[in-house]
Amino acid sequence: MIKTKKEFAVIGKPISHSLSPFLHNHFIVDFEIDAIYRPYEVEENEIKEVINSLKNKELNGINVTVPYKKKIIEFLDELEGDAKIAESVNTVYLNKKNKLIGLNTDVYGFEKAFISDKKKQFFGKNALVLGAGGVSTSVILALKRNNIGSIYLSNRTKSKAENIKKKYFSNINIVEWNDVKSISKDMDYIINATSLGLKNGNKFDFYFEEFKPTLSYIDLIYNPRKTEFIKYFSEKNIKTQDGLKMLIYQGLKSFEIWNNVDLNSAYPELEKKIEAVEYLLESTANYIDTRNK
Ligand code: ATR
Repeated sequence: MIKTKKEFAVIGKPISHSLSPFLHNHFIVDFEIDAIYRPYEVEENEIKEVINSLKNKELNGINVTVPYKKKIIEFLDELEGDAKIAESVNTVYLNKKNKLIGLNTDVYGFEKAFISDKKKQFFGKNALVLGAGGVSTSVILALKRNNIGSIYLSNRTKSKAENIKKKYFSNINIVEWNDVKSISKDMDYIINATSLGLKNGNKFDFYFEEFKPTLSYIDLIYNPRKTEFIKYFSEKNIKTQDGLKMLIYQGLKSFEIWNNVDLNSAYPELEKKIEAVEYLLESTANYIDTRNK
């Protein structure tokens, strides 16, 4: 095993679809940092062990993904910024006072990836958010912060959606999972924040049949990039966006925080760099797919 000064990790279950190790290790090499970033598939009862590795400095930072973004909170000392509001954590580090800090870079990632005009883009618009898991509160927070008109939230397990309304966002509308098809015609945005469509995961068992020609479909899934829903809507000339840009932006924010660097000053043309990295990650995912066949 390579021995490096620093080690970072992403934990989740499943984890084999994650492209975060390729993203982080690419920038670790670019910045000539003596570090490595590894994926770990962990069970819930193993989270404590990972946290201990952070405390005793065997690890220098962790990213947290499905299904532990909320679960991780009980192991931490403090939440900062959006992690506090959304009660969802995707980035953890040990600060100088030896306190375990939980951060949320998903809200930032969502804004950078999907919002081009902060003031106008969502103003007066209707958005349907599917899913009430760990990333949903981040999506809702980003939409609200950017002046969305109305939010409709639906989840297979309705009580989880109701809980989000009760605890965090009292003025969102809860929609029965079986009724999402019937409200789709009034939506300007449909955002998939469930794990439906994830590689080797379950698929949606319905299609949206009625929708505005101006609808935008956003899928937070990035592996595969072309989920069935992305394919379905693209064939109908609906604007679609997948989750790869969001993955990159949320990951780079973690990278900046852990390594105390500023990407904007490191890359004069950061957008171009990000496009190249997007291509690299897509090619990597395709290569892994072909190799595993
Ligand atoms: P995390 O909290 O980290 O996002 P999660 O809790 O597993 O991870 O969230 C996954 C989301 O995908 C949930 O909204 C889940 O719905 P439930 O709350 O009903 O479990 C949704 N999801 C997963 N599989 C699904 C399926 N087969 N049909 C509908 N929704 C599904």
